[in-house]
Amino acid sequence: MPQKIAFITGGNRGIGFQTALELKDDGVKSVIGSRDLAQGEQAVVKLRAAGVDADVLQFDITKPSDHKAAYDYFNSKYSQLDILVNNAGIAAGPFPGNGHEHSVTEIEPELLHKIFETNFFAQVALTRALLPLLKKSPAGRVVNLSSILASLTLHADPASPICDAKSFAYDASKTALNAFTIHLAHELRDTKIKVNSAHPGWVKTKMGGPNATMELSEGAKTSAALATLPDDGPTGGFFHLGEPLPW
Ligand SMILES: NC(=O)c1ccc[n+]([C@@H]2O[C@H](COP(=O)([O-])OP(=O)(O)OC[C@H]3O[C@@H](n4cnc5c(N)ncnc54)[C@H](OP(=O)(O)O)[C@@H]3O)[C@@H](O)[C@H]2O)c1
Repeated sequence: MPQKIAFITGGNRGIGFQTALELKDDGVKSVIGSRDLAQGEQAVVKLRAAGVDADVLQFDITKPSDHKAAYDYFNSKYSQLDILVNNAGIAAGPFPGNGHEHSVTEIEPELLHKIFETNFFAQVALTRALLPLLKKSPAGRVVNLSSILASLTLHADPASPICDAKSFAYDASKTALNAFTIHLAHELRDTKIKVNSAHPGWVKTKMGGPNATMELSEGAKTSAALATLPDDGPTGGFFHLGEPLPW
């Protein structure tokens, strides 16, 4: 089986790092993006020690020049890209939160813009930049790291467990990311590329915090499964551990 090449943004820690570990058994070479090159290199040392074929690319998703650099890197080294895990993301503050930074009426406009820039606009731009390389793969896969907090259906239901877990900028940016998943999957429906949104679970990471219900060791299972979907797998869906979630 030829080796697959994956780019995992925000792979120096948390769920992104765990995704590279999880993909080890699928014959995947994981290139992790890391804003801080030294942190990325330390992560690669750990990944290689665990048997992962890994490299690092210094990468900030909010920098358009880094999108071009990523295209050039994968094009010159591999001529294609098989898996793009749009994992890098930011939140307004620790979860679950009820500070002003989570409030729809109190969040500073600059923070609202910053979260949308990172979690939505930059994800769209990077995916578009790498799409020519994904189209060259025999089985291109795009995984957008969403969240159950993106679900308008669940937020609108007073009986849902997330109804009171409202963090406006983060939630809305992930809802927009879900729209990107649906629209891109539709546009690519006649190609071999599959595009899906993942809810990893509430995972103990810097973002998820210590009260999260899932250990990091379980937190990349959804990303890895969607990154390695078979040819008859779904596209344009929103999943957690194989189960569809409501939009
Ligand atoms: N943890 C959860 O419970 C949970 C639940 C649902 C969804 N998610 C989603 O899963 C993804 C990973 O979350 P996590 O829990 O692993 O978070 P995390 O521990 O905070 O890690 C976030 C990663 O994203 C990187 N990042 C942030 N801004 C970036 C930028 N501008 N350019 C490039 N990389 C950037 C961080 O890099 P630095 O180290 O440089 O900051 C870090 O590597 C996120 O999209 C998150 O929204 C997480």
